[in-house]
Amino acid sequence: MISENISLKPYNTFGIDVKARFFSAFSKLTELEELLAIYPGTSVFILGGGSNILFTRDVNGLVLKNGIMGIELMHEDGDNVYVKAGAGENWHRFVLHCINNNWAGIENLSLIPGNVGASPMQNIGAYGVELQDVFHCLEAFHIIEKRIITFTSTDCEFGYRESVFKRKYKNQFIILNVILKLRKRPVFHIDYGSVKQELENMGVKELNLRSVSQAIINIRNSKLPDPGLLGNAGSFFKNPFIRKSQASKLKEKFPDIPTYTAHDDLVKIPAGWLIEHCNPVNATQSWKGFRRGDAGCYPKQALVLVNYGKATGAEILQLSDDIARSVRNKFGIVLEREVNIA
Ligand code: EPU
Repeated sequence: MISENISLKPYNTFGIDVKARFFSAFSKLTELEELLAIYPGTSVFILGGGSNILFTRDVNGLVLKNGIMGIELMHEDGDNVYVKAGAGENWHRFVLHCINNNWAGIENLSLIPGNVGASPMQNIGAYGVELQDVFHCLEAFHIIEKRIITFTSTDCEFGYRESVFKRKYKNQFIILNVILKLRKRPVFHIDYGSVKQELENMGVKELNLRSVSQAIINIRNSKLPDPGLLGNAGSFFKNPFIRKSQASKLKEKFPDIPTYTAHDDLVKIPAGWLIEHCNPVNATQSWKGFRRGDAGCYPKQALVLVNYGKATGAEILQLSDDIARSVRNKFGIVLEREVNIA
C-alpha cells in the first residue's frame, strides 16, 4: 500500500518532521519490484532504520522502507559460520541473536542504532571492530537494471564509515541481505578505550560474548543518547586524519590534543575533542552542551548533535556548519560529516 504526504518523523532517529510525497514499506523482493513498477521514473529513496540521515526538506518522490526480515545460518565449516540477515532486521536484535547462538565477531557492535541493511553502507564500527572485519558478501537489487548483484568485500570498497553505496553507487542499489562470516570460537577485542575498565567494574572474571556485549552497552549508554528518548544520529562527523607534521605543529600550540597513530603518514584526531575545545562566536562556553532552539550539541559527547524536540533539519545542519567552521578556524582541520544529508 502506498501512502501520500506522510510524516517521516517516526522513521528517522533525529526525529525530523518532513513529509514523503509517496511512502510504502516492502518485505519481499517481489513487493519491491511491484512498487518500483507503479511509479516508473519517480525518484526513489530507500530508508532503513533512518539512523544515519538528516532530513532537511520534504522528499518529493517515493520513500521505500526496507522491511526484509529473516536470519539464517547458511553454511558452516571448522572455524566459521556464515549467517545471512535480511536488510530490515534491527541491527542490535541481530547482534543479540548471534550472541545467543555463540556466533562471535559483532559483540563490540552492540547497540548501534539502525538496521542490518545500513551496516555495510556505512561500514559501521565501534570499540575496535568494523563491519568489514566480519563481512562476507551481500545481495543488492539494482533499481534501474532490475537485477540482483552480489557484492564481495572488495566490491564494497570499504573505508572508514565508507563504502561504494555511499559514494559512486549512491541511490542505485537496494541492499536486500547481508552475509557475515562469524567465528565459532571468539577472539575478543577489549583494548579500545574503556572496554577493559568497564569489564573490571562489572566484576567479569572470564570473558564471554555476553559480558563483552554488556560492557559495550554500558559504555554506550553512559555517553551516547538513546535515539528513542532524544533525537540523534550518533557521531555527526568523522574523526579527521591529518599528516604527522601538521599534528606536531598543532601539539606545539595545543599540547593536550589527543592523537592516535593511523596508517602511513597519518594520525587520527578525535573530532569530539576538537569540538569540545571550540565555542560559538562571541561565547566563552564550549559547543559541548550548547543549545540553539531545539538543536544542540550533546553534553556528554560533543561529536553527537541532538534534536531536543522540534528542531528542523536545516537548524541542525546550520549548527553543524557553525561547529565545523569554528574547528577549521581554530585548528585548521576540516571536519567531514558522517551523517547523510537529504
Ligand atoms: N572526546 C572529547 N570530548 C568529547 C568526545 C570525545 O575530548 O566530547 C575525545 C576523548 O579524547 C576521547 C576520544 O575523543 O577519548 C574518543 O571518544 P570516544 O571513544 O567516545 O569515540 P569517538 O571517536 O568520539 C568513535 C565513533 C563512534 C564509536 C566510538 C567508539 C566515529 C565518527 N565515531 O567516536 O561511532 O561508537 O568511536 O568506538 O568514528 C557513530 O559512528 O555514530 C558512532 C557513535
